[in-house]
Amino acid sequence: MRISVIGCGYLGAVHAACMAELGHEVVGIDVDSGKVEQLNSGTAPFHEPGFDAVLARNVRNGRLRFSTSFEDARGASVHFIGVGTPQVAGGYAADLTYVDAAVDSLVSILPPPGEATVLVVGKSTVPVGTASALAERLASTAGILVWNPEFLREGFAVKDTLSPDRIVYGLPQDEASATTATAALDSVYSSLLDLGITRLTTDYATAELVKVAANSFLATKISFINAMAELCEATGADVTQLAHAIGMDDRIGPKFLRAGIGFGGGCLPKDIRAFIARAEELGVGDALAFLREVDAINDRRRDRVVALAREVVGGSLSGRHVAILGAAFKPDSDDMRNSPALDAADRIASEGARVVVTDPAAGPVLARQRQDLEIAEDAFAASAGADVVLLLTEWRQFRELDPVALGETVRARVIVDGRNVLDPAAWRAAGWTYRGMGRP
Ligand code: UDX
Repeated sequence: MRISVIGCGYLGAVHAACMAELGHEVVGIDVDSGKVEQLNSGTAPFHEPGFDAVLARNVRNGRLRFSTSFEDARGASVHFIGVGTPQVAGGYAADLTYVDAAVDSLVSILPPPGEATVLVVGKSTVPVGTASALAERLASTAGILVWNPEFLREGFAVKDTLSPDRIVYGLPQDEASATTATAALDSVYSSLLDLGITRLTTDYATAELVKVAANSFLATKISFINAMAELCEATGADVTQLAHAIGMDDRIGPKFLRAGIGFGGGCLPKDIRAFIARAEELGVGDALAFLREVDAINDRRRDRVVALAREVVGGSLSGRHVAILGAAFKPDSDDMRNSPALDAADRIASEGARVVVTDPAAGPVLARQRQDLEIAEDAFAASAGADVVLLLTEWRQFRELDPVALGETVRARVIVDGRNVLDPAAWRAAGWTYRGMGRP
């Protein structure tokens, strides 16, 4: 099938490459000419395991190309919308400028009603109610709108796109359109459906809500265990043992119960805020009041790690050399959007410390973007002469650090494990003062 993907950021670029991998002929459209050029050369503009290979292979075999011109999307039978929906400046709501612009551009290139069926498939995360408003704007065209949320995680983007837990189609009310749209989207995803992946059909609002409800649940689970970490800190209990024990109840489950410095990234923080804002607009703000608490608990983790750093160096960070291991919001990613690690680094620097940051993927990006920060090649270079080492993103390179070897480079053997990934006994045996998050 001929497919266009509007917006080639994280979501769009991965989706475009994966659709080509399924055998479709795909064009990705983006306004950023530098990004388009890079993608056309078959190199990924961000760090994502496995993505480079899928991108390069499909650019080479001619099934995948990228363009800045909307005209190149003309004639496709399916148009995916994968543009960003960032948080509006100074507020909680989602900024729909890019979604609106994508739909306006589609209206100008879609055939009139009655001609061949064309699908417009929304993948961006939007406030509930957006899809039905967009469908009205497409009424003057042959475009049928389906809302098909994306659940991919950074670091697992290709796997999550090619073997998702489930596929959700939010369909129009009109039965004939819904049937036509389902058949067409089934053809797009036929190889995934053949693998037995579950496809659920819903109305627009439910499909939109599935996405934000899922992210809200995940954020709540993380903040729950971080709230327990606060209790552990007040009582001398160990949150890692607590999480292990409650996670063994399969109604709770062990995943997303890692206490630490909290969640960040381009999705969870902004999505829960946009959800709060939308619920208030709908007059049901009280229903999501708990999400404000989820957000507040998350913020307190960042305060906590900075306070811990201050405490372990004797009360003031001023003039101290602080080595920061990790800047990305999570490992296997160079994404620093709303990164708790980078936020903590900035807060510590603002207290007058000499901060030296290292991150396997985000480090080179930071070196280009942030002249005010000292970036080191690896954990050893960052820690040479340090008064305290802070592990803030749990890269494998950091999880597997040898405490004896690292102990030889630092000025003082003091480590704050912001992700609870190190073995306290091993570090203490090597002469380190070890402090975790919510651990005695
Ligand atoms: C998330 C959702 O998981 C995904 O389904 C959705 O499509 C997009 O948002 P992502 O932002 O890639 O994906 O990251 P995720 O793996 O969910 O982690 C989010 C943040 O939570 C990270 O900062 C991570 O470090 C933190 N986290 C995760 C914890 O602090 N503790 C945990 O137990 C799990």
